[in-house]
Amino acid sequence: MTKDQAQLRIEELSRLLDQHNYNYYVLAAPTITDYAFDMLMEELIRLENQFPDLSAADSPSKRVGGEVTKQFQTVQHRYAMLSLSNSYNEGEIREFHNRVVKTLEQEAEYVCELKYDGLAISILYENGKLIQAVTRGDGNKGDDVTSNVKTIRSIPLKLKGSYPKRFEIRGEIYFPHDSFQAANEARIEEGTAPFANPRNAAAGTLKMQDSAEVSRRKLDCWFYYIMGENLPFKSHYESLQAAKSWGFKISSAIALCKNEAEIFEYIHDWEKGRNELPFDIDGIVIKVNRFDQQQLLGFTAKSPRWAIAYKYKAEEVTTQLLTVTYQVGRTGAVTPVANLKPVLLAGTTIKRASLHNADIILGLDLHENDTVVVEKGGEIIPKITSVKTALRDPSSKEVSFITHCPECGTALVRSEGESAWYCPNSYHCPPQIKGRLSHFIARKAMNIEGLGEGRVELLFDHGLVHNVADLYDLRYDQLLGLEKTFEDDDGKLRKIGFREKTSRLIVESIEASKAIPYPRLLFALGIRFVGETVAAKLAEAFPSIELLMRAQYNDLIEVEEIGDRIAESVLAFFDDLENMQTISRLQQHGLQFSHVAKNTMLSSVLEGKTIVISGVFETFSRDEAKTLIENHGGKVSSSISAKTSFILAGDQMGPSKKEKAEKLGVQLMDEAGFLYLIKQE
Ligand code: IVH
Repeated sequence: MTKDQAQLRIEELSRLLDQHNYNYYVLAAPTITDYAFDMLMEELIRLENQFPDLSAADSPSKRVGGEVTKQFQTVQHRYAMLSLSNSYNEGEIREFHNRVVKTLEQEAEYVCELKYDGLAISILYENGKLIQAVTRGDGNKGDDVTSNVKTIRSIPLKLKGSYPKRFEIRGEIYFPHDSFQAANEARIEEGTAPFANPRNAAAGTLKMQDSAEVSRRKLDCWFYYIMGENLPFKSHYESLQAAKSWGFKISSAIALCKNEAEIFEYIHDWEKGRNELPFDIDGIVIKVNRFDQQQLLGFTAKSPRWAIAYKYKAEEVTTQLLTVTYQVGRTGAVTPVANLKPVLLAGTTIKRASLHNADIILGLDLHENDTVVVEKGGEIIPKITSVKTALRDPSSKEVSFITHCPECGTALVRSEGESAWYCPNSYHCPPQIKGRLSHFIARKAMNIEGLGEGRVELLFDHGLVHNVADLYDLRYDQLLGLEKTFEDDDGKLRKIGFREKTSRLIVESIEASKAIPYPRLLFALGIRFVGETVAAKLAEAFPSIELLMRAQYNDLIEVEEIGDRIAESVLAFFDDLENMQTISRLQQHGLQFSHVAKNTMLSSVLEGKTIVISGVFETFSRDEAKTLIENHGGKVSSSISAKTSFILAGDQMGPSKKEKAEKLGVQLMDEAGFLYLIKQE
């Protein structure tokens, strides 16, 4: 195909994909199958890889992300992002209406909309193209999250029809329920704590550095407000309908209301209807429709006088407390859980409520068999807000917090000033052991593929792993065939086990993890308060575990970001005989307990090989990759040629490099394969 032909086809494919994207994500009315869509997308990506300079910034292929933002730039809003004043009862809506009529000296028409529960975004469009997307921040300044926002399929990258030359549009980015659930299932599978609610999850996602991950999470956006100079609209309603015609996702649940009665009808309809929506709302918004009237009403310092939010009360229901059980987490913290007589609340059956800690139980004055009021706020797990003491059987006993660990029987402890009780038996208490193992194997730690939380539990139940060092003694034949069936939260039967492919993957991945650099390993050990960043700082200041073990309190707190709490925790960790034994076993297995200095020959497995590094990696930085290659006898080169032995390819490898490799027939090797290769020696 010539370049001219490619250009024509790329334009055609982009047009088709944009239209299908719009049909699917904005209109929810697809006209082709997912497979046919994928085929078109593949063709486009192939052509763009072949002719990189024909790949436009607003190509539909950009939806998969790829840009990595190290630090989000702070941007001043052209128009401040104000909030809405809230009301919680109909009286306040009447007062709002009376104020409006009094100021305007005439009746007003209103637009009622859903109040989407996500986070506000302001997007600038120029000449029909998405230019910049900024979060609300403090209302005056926000973060530039353009590359992440571009991955949200329903947000147009270029507009249709005739639109103003320059304008800003505001909307709410949110997590649809099904994407939220999928993201949480994936997190549980990889051993990370699930998100508590869709809104926080959406906020966290939008601030991720890796836009490819944002793309996978499948956020969505409703638009509700347009601003700009000399826009040709007389009313809010009209402006939203115009925005709809340019390709923006505008809810069809918008209504024009002529009087208070119609506003109340809208409020009541959606109070019932909201449980059926596939996303969260926390109320409705009422806006004066005409722009000239809005202008007369003006603003207070914080919010417009022409709009008000009506917030729905969190739904609540009464039910009976059956039992209180206690869960022990990775750190040993004990959380009480109320088991309830099942009851329907906000569209789901509630069987449990979180009680958080002992103080909450005391505060509620909770007694056995109490009738309790359960509320579902934004969180997934509902909470008990009060107890109907009048309905209590006078002979029922107070619920008193347990004194011993329900899992291992050890007496619980509580430090001064802390609300949680802890089981101090870290090394022999099953949920703590399993939690530590899950942390160790997680993607951000030792990245052991194929071994999620469920499989770790299975290995533990069979007595195969008890300690992270045991992972390195596992053999393929021990894994193969193990399985168990369990009932998930929804009562569905699920099976988990080890087949040939998974068992092989796990054993290879465990072997490969021996090459994972020291800072990661330090993080994986799960020292309390030592997250990824702190682990990296410690590894830099103490380039081997021996040096770190010998460090005194004063040496530790000299390191940037290491304070009292972390220093104490590090000292306590190395003071523990069990930890020292684990480290010694891991050392015998050949794990990397020191910063590998440059020019230390570890093997000659890469001798005579010239390797190009491209993309980003899970377990090492590009610099670390270079050192690893050199220490194993290889040479690193920055450009691909016929002499390149292979490309060490991470995520987001550039399309031009891919194209060149393909042309010259140079092989790509992924991170896991590379680690496995250098461990062979
Ligand atoms: S209009 C000048 N409409 O609520 C105010 N806001 O407290 C313009 N929100 O930050 C806001 N749904 O994030 C408007 N239909 C809707 C909304 C909505 C949700 C959020 C928005 C804003 C907050 C105001």
